[in-house]
Amino acid sequence: MHEFTYYTPTKVVFGRGSEAKTGALLKEYGAGKVLLHYGGGSAERSGLLGRIREQLAAERIPFVELGGVMPNPRLSLVREGITLCEGEGVDFILAVGGGSVIDSAKAIGYGVTGGGDVWDFYDFKRKAETCLPIGAVLTIAAAGSEMSNFCVITNDDTWEKRGTKSDAGRPRFAVMDPELTMTLPPYQTACGCADILMHTMERYFNHGENMELTDGIAEALMRTVIRNAGILVKEPENYEARAEIMWAGSLSHNGLTGCGTDGGDWATHKLEHELGAMFDVAHGAGLTAVWGSWARLVYGERLDRFAKFATNVMNVPWQGNERETAVCGIYAAEAFFRSIGMPVTLAELGIAPTEEQIDALAEKCMKSAQGMPGIVKKLSREDIAGIYRAAM
Ligand code: NZQ
Ligand code: ZN
Repeated sequence: MHEFTYYTPTKVVFGRGSEAKTGALLKEYGAGKVLLHYGGGSAERSGLLGRIREQLAAERIPFVELGGVMPNPRLSLVREGITLCEGEGVDFILAVGGGSVIDSAKAIGYGVTGGGDVWDFYDFKRKAETCLPIGAVLTIAAAGSEMSNFCVITNDDTWEKRGTKSDAGRPRFAVMDPELTMTLPPYQTACGCADILMHTMERYFNHGENMELTDGIAEALMRTVIRNAGILVKEPENYEARAEIMWAGSLSHNGLTGCGTDGGDWATHKLEHELGAMFDVAHGAGLTAVWGSWARLVYGERLDRFAKFATNVMNVPWQGNERETAVCGIYAAEAFFRSIGMPVTLAELGIAPTEEQIDALAEKCMKSAQGMPGIVKKLSREDIAGIYRAAM
């Protein structure tokens, strides 16, 4: 087992009705003036924002608002948020929404406390060491940003999508009420389930050894997501399934399923981030569209782990040898993605990159990985272009 640091400072307030505790939590964490940050309209339509405003007023906490965060959150709005917070003396950000809103909040928090150009943190020029304190009211189980140290922003001048890591950005608290996710369209629910599964798959496919407990937690989490994602296709209002998925989303990306590994592969995420920047696709769908092509290129490097994934997660019967079992596991995972309405090719994702675009995607992927992405197999520029082509 590799050495590791496990740090999860976020207070989780989970369950039916937990959204009603948001005002009290802000008080508990000493919020003096709040930026209420949200997305494109779903939280307004559902009435959630109205209820949060009432709680802020009841607690006598002054606040300003900035809505309009788009999926694949944009740097231009982050800059607007920084100016607003500086002008208004904001000392706490409340993110109401999903990964995009929480990431936008983190970026604003880095910018306000770090000074200078906030893009520096995404362009490998500086590391974010400080952040305004952040609270999250989660409305979609997916990215796991409510407990993660990661933050992904799209630069809408250069159309680069970049992530940066900092423990300073981990939210102080996360309010998770599974009922808030019931207004999600089926496609968005499925995208979330895919992303959650992938956060543990990225960690599971690695070159580490002897991770009995971490592997067991990871496999249980993946089986839970697969089972409950299937239930939500037929019963979108099933509270128990919503709750299982929501909790899995946080545990899948707070570091737990990576303890003792070598960090995991993450090439699929790198490949998707470039698709997201160029074609503005939903993150979860972009991941499933390329994963199978990545897996078929690299599985020979870790036949044992791919075979273990097949039997312990995808419920594939032993095929007499590791190679056959591993291959069946990859196809079973793709069949699962299809069963919840997720694409397994770029055509199904609705895009058809040209050769020139594939070249550009591969080049940007190498740049954002600062070298060859991947752990199971270090991917060359040709490998990356080959995966995109195979995924067509
Ligand atoms: O903007 P609104 O109107 O709120 O609509 C959103 C958005 O269109 C909608 N939505 C959210 N909650 C809803 C709802 N619609 C109806 N009812 C609700 N309760 O869902 C759409 C997607 O929201 P978004 O926040 O973009 O989804 P997600 O949580 O999947 O976040 C995706 C972003 O997170 C990044 C992705 O790259 C992408 O930019 N990631 C962040 C990570 C992190 N910080 O740790 C890790 C991930 O790997 C990922 O890269
Ligand atoms: Zn993800």
